[in-house]
Amino acid sequence: MTEPSLRPYANRRVLLGVSGGIASYKTAWLARLLSKAGAEVDVVMTRAATEFVGPVTFEALTGRPVHTGLFDAGRALDHIHLARAAAAVVVAPATADFMARAATGQADDLLTACLLATEAPVLLVPAMNDRMWAHAQTRANAARLRELGYRLLDPDDGVLAAGEGSGPGRMPEPETIFAHVGRLLEDSAAPLVGRRVVVTAGPTREAIDPVRFVSNHSSGRMGVSIAAAAWRRGASVTLIAGPLAVPAPVGVSVVRVESTEEMCQAVEQALAEADVLVMAAAPADYRPANVATSKLKKTGQPRAIELEENADILRSTRSARREGAVIVGFALETDDLIENAKRKLDAKALDLIVLNDAKEQGAGFGVETNRVTLLTRGSPEPERLPLLSKPQVADVILDRVEDRLRGR
Ligand SMILES: Cc1cc2nc3c(=O)[nH]c(=O)nc-3n(C[C@H](O)[C@H](O)[C@H](O)COP(=O)(O)O)c2cc1C
Repeated sequence: MTEPSLRPYANRRVLLGVSGGIASYKTAWLARLLSKAGAEVDVVMTRAATEFVGPVTFEALTGRPVHTGLFDAGRALDHIHLARAAAAVVVAPATADFMARAATGQADDLLTACLLATEAPVLLVPAMNDRMWAHAQTRANAARLRELGYRLLDPDDGVLAAGEGSGPGRMPEPETIFAHVGRLLEDSAAPLVGRRVVVTAGPTREAIDPVRFVSNHSSGRMGVSIAAAAWRRGASVTLIAGPLAVPAPVGVSVVRVESTEEMCQAVEQALAEADVLVMAAAPADYRPANVATSKLKKTGQPRAIELEENADILRSTRSARREGAVIVGFALETDDLIENAKRKLDAKALDLIVLNDAKEQGAGFGVETNRVTLLTRGSPEPERLPLLSKPQVADVILDRVEDRLRGR
């Protein structure tokens, strides 16, 4: 399967500036992530950057020519063309020297010239030694750049280049920068700005004794993809997560829970402020009726565990919903799919239900893809989507959520 492209990156031109810091080796991975998501990546390197990573690396990763010189033959107007074509500009790493030049409007190399010539949003990702970052001159440059409308990602506090110990100055991981570029690319539409979106993800665990539990195979991928997409679209996002098999997304605030009851309480609290609730978690329906306080020992005999039913989160938190909030539920069914899903849509007062067929290949738990059918309140026709990656499914769900929000 070829790599699935992803809104908002797909077919968008991203100008990826690389200045001469040691972290530029990580920018190669960022170029790869952007290209993989479908962006057309124009890499512009400073002369110093080419001392660290060869342009050929970026050329091979992006499949496009790499630009290095303002005065290269046949490329005299690159700074204007590249700057105009870009939907977003990101400079990673941005060296102290580069920041100083950008803060004072210099244009003596291709990258700084592009910054002045572009009207696209610009993200700078400073990375340097901790003392260079702490220097009053660098702080003043950073403040000036923010005043000028550039966005800056604060460096991480972590291990610096060999022998330099640790401190603030380290470039954030490529995945983090990638997510921020996505938010930048959504900006023009910024459909969920000012909206509070709550997403649940993952399984829950119900204790049998201090070391064992009842759970299910949910990885949390679907919910994490929805939370990530909602954040890219400008929402402030709370992810209420059971134990996830995948990393939590960038930018969202995460509430970790263990049992279905804890998830229920967290949802109830979050609903007070939520414009949108997406219940993508797979909370355990049952819990052991009695939790042993010590580890159960083998007895050589069969042992029965009595289970009692957990509360249904959507039903039991219904009165906590705000007027006009858009509520999305998920249903994993094996039989009478559409009928069961329609019943849930009504019984739980949902706006949208996302139906997974548990028998379908490439759908549901643990896989990267999903094939779902959407049922929307008030529209009788189910919308059957093709096999998509989970991030792609997340974007379709959020498109429908935005339609509902607009209609209110
Ligand atoms: C091994 C080495 C590592 C460097 N790492 C950084 C760095 O991480 N951040 C930084 O701001 N400068 C770093 N520098 C200094 C820059 O390369 C130098 O200031 C250069 O002029 C930056 O040019 P540019 O901004 O045009 O890319 C490093 C220099 C060397 C020799």
